[in-house]
Amino acid sequence: MKPIFADNAAIDRAAALLSQGKLVAFPTETVYGLGADAANPQAVMQIFNVKGRPTAHPLIVHIGNIEQLKFLAQKIPDSAKKLASTFWPGPLTLILAKKSDVPSEVTGGQNTIAIRMPDHPVALALLNKFDGAIAAPSANIFSRISPTQASHVEEELGDNVDMILDGGACRIGVESTIIDLTGPVPKLLRPGHITVAEIEAVLETELMIISTPNPKDTKTTENRAPGMMSSHYAPTTPTALCEHDKLPAILNNLRSQNKRVGLLSYQFNPPENRLMHMLCMPEQAESYAQILYTCLRELDSRELDIILIEETPDTEAWRAINDRIKKATAALTDR
Ligand code: TXA
Ligand code: MG
Repeated sequence: MKPIFADNAAIDRAAALLSQGKLVAFPTETVYGLGADAANPQAVMQIFNVKGRPTAHPLIVHIGNIEQLKFLAQKIPDSAKKLASTFWPGPLTLILAKKSDVPSEVTGGQNTIAIRMPDHPVALALLNKFDGAIAAPSANIFSRISPTQASHVEEELGDNVDMILDGGACRIGVESTIIDLTGPVPKLLRPGHITVAEIEAVLETELMIISTPNPKDTKTTENRAPGMMSSHYAPTTPTALCEHDKLPAILNNLRSQNKRVGLLSYQFNPPENRLMHMLCMPEQAESYAQILYTCLRELDSRELDIILIEETPDTEAWRAINDRIKKATAALTDR
């Protein structure tokens, strides 16, 4: 399916397709979503089919205005009102108790629901035109890297989607921050562009940080978000995280084995050679996040033996990026 420039006529057509139970991929400020009518269980099941995603992994429901919250959530705690009024539209997903009439297909059988209002003119125009809630996970094959451009969706999903709205490259580039407000203490389930400090300032309380589960650690299952796996967001090429100081030795070693290497470098700038494909990444976290998935896709397409990612700073601004890098490199790191 060729992406279609998201003008008003295309958005009208996309809204009509959603009403007919079809799938529409659309841009958000974070990543592209694969959307279906959240009130139509058959349409929602198609999302799982197309992505190859287990049906127990809950989806995020997108809304175009705060008033829609009451049709989806059983209770809207003050904390949700505060966060929604501060950060919506924006890259923040709230987990709330679900209303019983929301199809259980949307929430993977959970009695909680993930909701966000995206900050993208095309997503908002589509939501307002459709006039309902749109269930949309990232528009990639299950466990692969999220798409941040319309062409990525085309590569991932081909003709299995009924329309791809092209709204250009996503501004933020990593998925939304997810906050669970269903318990006594608010929990961070997935770090994103909106930081822990920003959320804590609004809630005037500390967040409980739920870290990415280690696949070998079965004890963490109780606290982890359903569908949150350490091997998410991974390229198909083996990908490893490298400390800055160890890079020269590792590169030498790989070179002596004639390995073709992709390097996402942060501050390390070795001379390139015919076996090494290097992409120099920005020093600012926001710019880095914006192009991270595009760069990983680019290296993944070059038929390399290994992709190395140079370690980035261990600070709050880099939390979401470090989380995604950890997930992208989990298979090799855990070995
Ligand atoms: O930025 C984003 O959030 C993008 C765009 C398209 O909005 N969407 C996205 O969706 O990243 P997805 O499906 O790839 O990730 C949704 C995550 C799941 O991995 C799951 O862990 C969590 O949201 N989630 C959804 N419903 C949940 C629930 N009821 N309880 C806990 N976690 C939930
Ligand atoms: Mg996803």
